[in-house]
Amino acid sequence: MPGSPDPLIIRLFSVLLACIITPLQAQDLELGKKLHEEHCTRCHTPEIYTRQKRIVNSYAELQERVRQCELSNELTWFDEEINAVVNYLNSTYYHFKQ
Ligand code: HEC
Repeated sequence: MPGSPDPLIIRLFSVLLACIITPLQAQDLELGKKLHEEHCTRCHTPEIYTRQKRIVNSYAELQERVRQCELSNELTWFDEEINAVVNYLNSTYYHFKQ
């Protein structure tokens, strides 16, 4: 059919895309873990993320809280670094849907 892309090309392309994206996410998690270990365990241990009455109850609240803790720690992180830590905490402890 002229004009519509070959389904095989589309499949190949999505496989290729998955190959690129998956390692990037893994890298992001590694960065988040490292940043968290270096900067975030001074005031509270990770137990705070799994305690019964935790204050964070959604992905948006998690982003907000990480930003607040980052600011009170005077870290001046880039958004990428904050997102890496949010993703790390979410995939390790919170498991919120985004
Ligand atoms: C200056 C001390 C301090 C540092 C450093 C700090 N936090 Fe916090 N964090 C707090 C306090 C205080 C609370 C709130 C405790 C409460 O209200 O019971 C908190 C709570 C949190 C919560 C919410 C826990 C819950 O109940 O669900 C998250 C998530 C969090 N911090 C992430 C981080 C991250 C990520 C970092 C590193 C950027 C960090 N914190 C560094 C003081 C700190």
